[in-house]
Amino acid sequence: MQTIIVTGGAGYIGSHTLVELLNKTDFDVVSVDNFSNSTKSNYDRIKKITSRPFKTIELDLCDEKNLFKELSALSSIAGIIHFAAFKSVPDSMKDPLLYYHNNNSSLLNLLKFAHAQNINHFIFSSSCSVYGNATELPVTEQTPMTKAISAYGHTKQMGEEMIDFFSRSLPAFQSVVLRYFNPVGAHMSGLLGEYPISKPNNLVPIITQTAVGKNSLSVFGNDYDTKDGYCIRDYIHVSDIADAHVKALNYLLDKKNKEQVSLFNLGTGEGVSVLEAIKSFERVSGQKLAYKIGPRREGDVIAVYANNTLAKKELHWLPEYSLDDMMLSAWKWQQHLEATAS
Ligand code: UD1
Repeated sequence: MQTIIVTGGAGYIGSHTLVELLNKTDFDVVSVDNFSNSTKSNYDRIKKITSRPFKTIELDLCDEKNLFKELSALSSIAGIIHFAAFKSVPDSMKDPLLYYHNNNSSLLNLLKFAHAQNINHFIFSSSCSVYGNATELPVTEQTPMTKAISAYGHTKQMGEEMIDFFSRSLPAFQSVVLRYFNPVGAHMSGLLGEYPISKPNNLVPIITQTAVGKNSLSVFGNDYDTKDGYCIRDYIHVSDIADAHVKALNYLLDKKNKEQVSLFNLGTGEGVSVLEAIKSFERVSGQKLAYKIGPRREGDVIAVYANNTLAKKELHWLPEYSLDDMMLSAWKWQQHLEATAS
């Protein structure tokens, strides 16, 4: 049986991708994680949902020696899906070097390993933040990258460029770069979701924590030049993002790719304001959300949403879940956390 390595498999998107891989494919799946922003208990949640075993390795990918030692012991590796990275925009502005070190040296080590082991299928987690303040809306894969607004976004631009130049040196190496817009929500069972290791920075976990009295939502500005004054994002359900990884993997393994490095936007294509997101949460949860309007946040893009035509056409991917599904699943997950908190 062929093996797929998933780095960051205990993390938010990684854990949901493990679920999709275990449910939809026969691969032997190996998750590699150092739990720097995730919890081991996610593995139990994945096992509960899928009833399928998978191997786990605790490893910091920045430790090249250990990476080679641990991963060389695996056999028949058909591909690598690389999630493991830091992802907080504000944290990356406070400590950019930490972000460059963690996100880029882990990628570098993994590419060295792939090269040494002749592993030629690679999927990379990128972000719409590579577009900076996008020069056109909706954003297509051809929309030029402008200067990154955050160090986080810059690590993703650098990551994409590392893969691009590496690929030019090694024609056999085939990769898919997936640019996520705003992944939110939780597995529809409500048994798996984004696990709050520290105080979240992202909107949806802050909304659900606010609803249970564990946080207080401050909306970052309502005087932008947008349809209702609030920032616009393209929220996309995390299980739809996870499903795209399974499709991207099969795309490479079935040799359907037309480019050596295939880039795809992953969003629903719909621009949703922060207020609309709040209203959706209130509608599906039946909770009135107490929030205040605060100042704008440094590093925030005003509006960004995807043209997702290419992913639909090439990967045969179709986002399944609505904004209400995203909010309802996030709310179910928050309630599950409340019910199981010790
Ligand atoms: C950014 C990236 C996204 C990446 C994510 C990872 C951009 C355009 N997007 O998302 O690709 O996956 O980081 O963390 O760079 N908001 C509030 N109050 C809060 C928190 C958020 O009003 O307390 C607002 C923000 O101003 C923004 C929206 O909610 O308009 C979403 O913010 P957030 O969830 O933090 O994600 P992004 O920064 O958009």
